[in-house]
Amino acid sequence: MQREKLSAVGKAVSMMMHDLRSPIKNIKVLTGMMRDEGIQSDWLDMVDQCGEQASAIFEDFLDFIRENPVRKVPVKLEKVIEEGIRLAESKNTRLPVTIQVGDLGDLTVPGDESKLKRCIMNLVCNAVEALQDQKVANAHIDISAAVGDGTMLISIRDNGKGIPADIHKTLFEPFVTRQKNNGTGLGLAIVKQYVIAHGGEIWVENDNGAVFTIALPL
Ligand SMILES: Nc1ncnc2c1ncn2[C@@H]1O[C@H](COP(=O)(O)OP(=O)(O)OP(=O)(O)O)[C@@H](O)[C@H]1O
Ligand SMILES: [Mg+2]
Repeated sequence: MQREKLSAVGKAVSMMMHDLRSPIKNIKVLTGMMRDEGIQSDWLDMVDQCGEQASAIFEDFLDFIRENPVRKVPVKLEKVIEEGIRLAESKNTRLPVTIQVGDLGDLTVPGDESKLKRCIMNLVCNAVEALQDQKVANAHIDISAAVGDGTMLISIRDNGKGIPADIHKTLFEPFVTRQKNNGTGLGLAIVKQYVIAHGGEIWVENDNGAVFTIALPL
């Protein structure tokens, strides 16, 4: 009975989230129309920011509950990594954090380009947020890839304080978030879901910072 109730609540929440998406997207349309009419105010920018934040939470939630199939095609790593970084940068304007990408040459992996991009984006966003929150000097993120035994290993390393001990074991579970003002705690749950859907694995170690490694089958 409890399970049935939970599943009914889950379905209702997901329907509600889905239906609320468009009114939330309309916020930006309306502020745009107000600007077109000549209305100028810092409040409008703040309304936009709130709308964008709400939209991002909704999109994360929907990505997490949808189990969209992975469509694998040969994907160029250089492209997904560069575009993933660009998406992270567009979300986070409070840089500066240096992001270095190792020589990826022509490495390709069978994968779903948009999902892999999303994985890189979420991991880079987390690293940027951790480095900024911890006010790390010479903050940097290094991304590299190498071919292992039938797998492609992609690693995202930062020079922050690493993963807090109390969440190390539960980090990839949904709604686990720490030391952040506005985290939903879905970022890593989505990454893990996508990696597993590729038949891969993801893990994290602390080594003078956090090091996330994704292993994808070749
Ligand atoms: N590179 C990192 N360094 C230190 N802590 C990290 C790092 N990446 C993730 N974490 C910790 O793991 C927690 C969970 O990350 P996750 O991306 O799942 O959620 P979130 O970033 O808190 O929220 P959301 O991604 O939904 O906005 C973070 O709140 C943070 O405390
Ligand atoms: Mg996150």
